[in-house]
Amino acid sequence: MSLNPEKAILSTRPELFDFHGVSMTHYFTDNWENVQNFQARPDDILIATYPKAGTTWVSQILDLLYFGQTCPERHNNIPIYERVPFLEIAIPSLDLGYQSVISLWLCYHVTCFPYQRFPYSMFTPHAGKDLADKLPTTPRLIKTHFPVQFVPKSFWEQNCRIVYVARNAKDNMVSFFHFDRMIAIQPEAGEWNNYFHRFLEGQMVFGSWYDHVNGWWKKKQNYSNIHYMFYEDMIEDTEREIDKLCSFLGLSRSAEERKMISGGVQFDKMKKNEMANYSTLPVMDFKISPFMRKGKVGDWKNHFTVAQNEVFDEDYKKKMKDPTLQFHTEI
Ligand code: A3P
Repeated sequence: MSLNPEKAILSTRPELFDFHGVSMTHYFTDNWENVQNFQARPDDILIATYPKAGTTWVSQILDLLYFGQTCPERHNNIPIYERVPFLEIAIPSLDLGYQSVISLWLCYHVTCFPYQRFPYSMFTPHAGKDLADKLPTTPRLIKTHFPVQFVPKSFWEQNCRIVYVARNAKDNMVSFFHFDRMIAIQPEAGEWNNYFHRFLEGQMVFGSWYDHVNGWWKKKQNYSNIHYMFYEDMIEDTEREIDKLCSFLGLSRSAEERKMISGGVQFDKMKKNEMANYSTLPVMDFKISPFMRKGKVGDWKNHFTVAQNEVFDEDYKKKMKDPTLQFHTEI
């Protein structure tokens, strides 16, 4: 049987709409009430990012830090999106076309892969909040792309620790562009120049990159349980950043353990790891672009024209006025 997911799945792209002042799609707002009522526990750890800032990388690091020794088999059997549920995602009522595409995909692949490789969540309507509720681990690691003002209040009330990862806007934009091209549940990426302007205007799922990184940075000033880190720092020295994470989380891990984790989460390793590289998700079409695409700093130089770079820099100066928030934009 042959299946062309590019044609079949991509016909169901969602529309962007304004949701409390932020561009969103229904996949991340349909479960709004339930998500807002999520009961965080004091030891929950929230991993918050603008999409494509290195969420999966940090999720894998945290999962290894907490469970790498006690439960190593989970890293070989459970996909990252089940170990670290995506709080706000909701695919409650797949339309028939979409359902049949998934069924076909499963029929096709079930003969090739062992059953346990499939996320159980793909067989049923999927709400990240329900997965998070049922997580049997302590602590629970939970992922969100929400701008800070959308985070359910129980996380603040419980004084949960939050790891925020930010990535320089130019690379973030490029990574988001390729992601939007390959994933069925995002609006069409369309043509690059148009995408470039949409990004500057904040017409992206989860809104403006500028508002997101600034909003979380501002929150950090009056909520001390946020560890604000940068993708570029992780590229520069993963072990050092793991060390900082351990300090923030109050974890004592030996230099050897930290080194082992750092080695295990390097790009090439994660790209090959089916439990971390999203290759088990049928809504992504790796023929268009892999999830683990390049994992580099500075790929924007292969995409931005000179004129676009000038427009970007001018606009950036106007939007990024806080001198205490410094990105690696010129790398
Ligand atoms: P690129 O598209 O630039 O390659 P997220 O997990 O937030 O969706 O971010 C995905 C981005 O992080 C992708 O960027 C992906 O390749 C990169 N990434 C994931 N794991 C990585 C790793 N171990 N090292 C470097 N980059 C990584």
